[in-house]
Amino acid sequence: MTEIIRVENLSKKFINKKDKTEVLAVDNINFSVNSGEIFGFLGPNGAGKTTTIRMLACLLKPTLGNAFLNGMSILEDQENIRSIIGFLTENHGNYENLTVKQNLEFFGQFYNIQNLNERIENILEQFEMLDRIDMYAGELSKGLKQRLALARTLIHEPKILFFDEPTAGLDPIAAVKVRELIIKLKSRNRTIFINSHNLEEVQKVCDRVGIIDKGRIKRIGTSDEISKNLWEFRILEIKLKRLSDEIISQLSKLDFIKEIFPINGSIRIHLKDLEEFTPIIVEKVVKLGGKIISVEPIEYSLEDIYVKLMEDSKINQQSGEK
Ligand SMILES: Nc1ncnc2c1ncn2[C@@H]1O[C@H](COP(=O)(O)OP(=O)(O)O)[C@@H](O)[C@H]1O
Ligand SMILES: [Mg+2]
Repeated sequence: MTEIIRVENLSKKFINKKDKTEVLAVDNINFSVNSGEIFGFLGPNGAGKTTTIRMLACLLKPTLGNAFLNGMSILEDQENIRSIIGFLTENHGNYENLTVKQNLEFFGQFYNIQNLNERIENILEQFEMLDRIDMYAGELSKGLKQRLALARTLIHEPKILFFDEPTAGLDPIAAVKVRELIIKLKSRNRTIFINSHNLEEVQKVCDRVGIIDKGRIKRIGTSDEISKNLWEFRILEIKLKRLSDEIISQLSKLDFIKEIFPINGSIRIHLKDLEEFTPIIVEKVVKLGGKIISVEPIEYSLEDIYVKLMEDSKINQQSGEK
């Protein structure tokens, strides 16, 4: 795995013009993204996602820190960086009174592209929009407008794509279509960075997630990695051929088991350390004559993780205010 984006101590402070108050929109973040992955930057509104992506796309100067895209610094190599990135902003930015084709030609002319016409047709075919090539952008449905905007970001075959809230404001069906297209764009030579406040989207589309809140990164990793150490107790589910009260009462005597209860023919056990205690529990159940069908930890969803992190961050904030 090679690292294609590296963010080092990146910070952005805005000064509110009216009352001169300072907003620390991005507060000393550090992370990296590997080549070929779809990385999701997840956080509530105002968390600092757009500010971060704008700094990475060289549209906004950081107050402190640096970032490297394909080894090039956003402080020194803006010109070269622009040639290897595509950026889809929050509001799509198509020219409504130009046709689909003219929009792509207009954005294409900024890059030195051989066979621009062929390229445009290829992309539109990929995006199932070839039949709309001469329609005015203003006449397209919301979903198609967004697809055109995505197509635009690809015109110069960039290595890195930045999508800021790519499905915000779309109806569910159009959103699904856009997500499918994004997954199709995933390839070994292309890295996709998605800002989103939509958990479901991130869970469906992204290989790895960074969770940001109030300008700070709370967690980073796959949803599995993120959930590790987040909860004091993990849950183990053991499915038995036949549940017996004897097994439950014997297990509940083990002092490392926090809680145990039957559910739908299985036993659920809350414990601190799955890896350490699962083998001991399994051995005990077998000794007691239990016929085990399956033993599985209950995985937390990204939604569980997100809710928990936001709760923790509120608690920390409140205790900080006291
Ligand atoms: N140009 C600006 N001037 C002042 N404050 C800003 C500016 N842009 C963003 N902010 C503030 O920075 C914080 C982060 O904003 P943003 O990066 O847009 O968050 P997100 O994209 O996660 O919703 C917010 O508090 C926002 O009000
Ligand atoms: Mg935003």
